[in-house]
Amino acid sequence: CGDEIALTPPMGWNSWNCFAHEVSAEKVKSAADAMVKSGLINHGWTYINIDDFWNNHRDSEDGSLRGELRDANGKIVPNKRFEDMKGLADYVHGLGLKIGLYSSPGPWSCGGCAGSYGFEELDAETYAEWGFDYLKYDWCSYGNVIDGLPDNDPYKVSSLSYNGGGELETAMAPFKLMGDYIRKQSRDIVYSVCQYGMSDVWKWGGSVGGNCWRTTNDITDTWVSVKNIALDQDKSAPYAKPGNWNDPDMLVVGHVGWGNTHPSKLKPDEQYLHISLWSLFAAPLLIGCDMEKLDDFTLNLLTNDEVIDVNQDPLGKQGTCLQTIGDLKIYVKELEDGSRAVGFCNFGIEIVDMDYSDFEKLGIKGDVTVRDLWRQKDIANLDAGSEKLAIKVPAHGVLFYKFSNRQ
Ligand code: DGJ
Repeated sequence: CGDEIALTPPMGWNSWNCFAHEVSAEKVKSAADAMVKSGLINHGWTYINIDDFWNNHRDSEDGSLRGELRDANGKIVPNKRFEDMKGLADYVHGLGLKIGLYSSPGPWSCGGCAGSYGFEELDAETYAEWGFDYLKYDWCSYGNVIDGLPDNDPYKVSSLSYNGGGELETAMAPFKLMGDYIRKQSRDIVYSVCQYGMSDVWKWGGSVGGNCWRTTNDITDTWVSVKNIALDQDKSAPYAKPGNWNDPDMLVVGHVGWGNTHPSKLKPDEQYLHISLWSLFAAPLLIGCDMEKLDDFTLNLLTNDEVIDVNQDPLGKQGTCLQTIGDLKIYVKELEDGSRAVGFCNFGIEIVDMDYSDFEKLGIKGDVTVRDLWRQKDIANLDAGSEKLAIKVPAHGVLFYKFSNRQ
């Protein structure tokens, strides 16, 4: 059952934000190779997830992805860039990694490739037979099914597709259907429910077998996108627990951008804030960049074990904002050993320079050691009841600290 796997948030890579419709087995293999060569594999990064466009398309403009959608037995047919799915899974497993795939409960994926509608059981069996360990199941054209639009009319997209998901039971049904088939397979498959946070998915994502569920629309590598997503996460926080994670979408660091990649438009301080927050949120950590273009800055962001440990803390609580002082928001995540990870997050354009003393509001009491997680250094010992801590938070930046009680 769904709560026996993904006991900490899944960590890995996803093809969408760098390769989009140009993903291929070769690119996926290169990403897996880079996961190993860069050393990321040694910091918990595990899943190599193929997103949309691994199978044939209903109407590919240049015809390159045109082909049989399913064979005579109804089995899904990969496109010519993915000739040997089992071979690809074996290759990725051989490197010590796991591999993920993508589909839609509707007749078509968002990009227009064949979805699982009407073939859910066979698809779940096929993914397991190929050796896949993760499935992202993306709502996309399911609104057409609800609206009774013809399956084969790709141009009519129901308003429900991106607009609420309709009645709760209607929104849940296709995810439960696939979730049940996924759980029947003889391998552990992380099940990622993707419907952009409609219908308060955090309240029911676990009950349909989901290990994680998207809480938002697609992220982009802009400050506004990261900020808006971050500020919208508290409402779903109480529902996060081992095996069930809120997913505020992928990490927009490194070279991203749909096949024509560029360095993330987030400034360095914004990237520190982004990674700190996703750690505090206990979010699935899926790198969205071209893994062959990993630069030192990005690698450092992704290999800080103390930052990753906050995300992977076994207690599985999602951090929330416990105090707002102007543009400063203070996020706190309770950790299993009783300590607290605290992000002093500056969403404003001016530096925040102050002596902070409201520790009680953050649940911090007594004699504590303050550790700077990015720098991996203890920076102070203080009595939270009487002493102050000087904090200087850069614009759009963060101080990411851990407060532990001294014995
Ligand atoms: C919408 C999802 O939100 C994205 O993450 C990506 O999977 C695309 N669909 C693929 O078409």
